[in-house]
Amino acid sequence: MRCIKCHTKAVIGLPRHNAAFCNPCFTEFVHDQVARAIKAERMFGKQDRILVAVSGGKDSLALWDILLKLGYRADALYVNLGIGSYSERSQQKVQTFADTVAATYGATLHIHKVEQEEGAGIRELADLVHRPTCSTCGTIKRYQFNRAAIEREYDVMATGHNLDDEAARLLGNVLHWQDDYLDKQGPSLPASVEGFAKKVKPLYRLAEREVAAYAVLNKIDYIVEECPMAKGSKMLLYKDVLNRLETESPGTKQRFYWGFLERQAKERPAASSMTEKDRASLHPCAACGQPTTAEMCSYCKMMARAKVSHSRTTGS
Ligand code: AMP
Ligand code: FES
Ligand code: ZN
Repeated sequence: MRCIKCHTKAVIGLPRHNAAFCNPCFTEFVHDQVARAIKAERMFGKQDRILVAVSGGKDSLALWDILLKLGYRADALYVNLGIGSYSERSQQKVQTFADTVAATYGATLHIHKVEQEEGAGIRELADLVHRPTCSTCGTIKRYQFNRAAIEREYDVMATGHNLDDEAARLLGNVLHWQDDYLDKQGPSLPASVEGFAKKVKPLYRLAEREVAAYAVLNKIDYIVEECPMAKGSKMLLYKDVLNRLETESPGTKQRFYWGFLERQAKERPAASSMTEKDRASLHPCAACGQPTTAEMCSYCKMMARAKVSHSRTTGS
């Protein structure tokens, strides 16, 4: 197998592009896909300050690496969820990257510790509010990502979601005809009102396998294991199904997700009127001030419930 660009020995084949690359040409290919994503979806410019949410996994660390190497001003935020040694090991991976690669670009790492700020680890909080751990975790992460971006005055917040994540999410939304989620699913969500940060996913053109290869070839040390709470999740099932289709017919994931984006772009006038509607129903949360459609945002409601539940069990 030879690299299609320079004809030296290839290290990776990409059936969906009918291509193969050597190490340097593959890195160039990955950088080019991210640059295209940023341009096509008007994500940010060279002057913007970007906050990358990094989990210690391959996708978000690769994203931080790529943005710095492409010359963007990118800092990062790690949310320590207090999931025992898993969280400690993930934080260690993020810290090592921050102290080595990111430090050479003068980039900063911010750390939010859930046990310190929210008063308990994610599993205990989920028990207190009687909700599944992953949805409790999602509410906290979304809230803290947005809050950090707004309070620290970043122009945009970036996550490491890749093509596999987005295609799996689209499959889930279509299977359940979640119209509201379908309207809002995309690689670039504008800051619709004051208090909401713009959110982007610059890896949406790259498959999970490609991002993993980039991380390995560029010697990024990341946490390989999935979050222990994710076992048996629907997302993993959807990814598995899509991977089976991809093996039979390379390019399926890309056609499915990019096809959806093309349709969405054609229907943009309708989508933007949705945003208008959303904007009209948003107002500041009575407790924290972040925009919400209810009296209190879902994070504050959840934290209030946790407090009541905690004082009931301890009698304090
Ligand atoms: P996941 O939902 O675990 O697939 O993660 C999707 C994206 O959310 C990652 O690529 C990161 O950008 C971000 N993320 C997930 N967990 C964390 C965390 N604990 N701290 C900061 N960012 C995170
Ligand atoms: Fe949130 Fe695992 S419970 S990442
Ligand atoms: Zn609130």
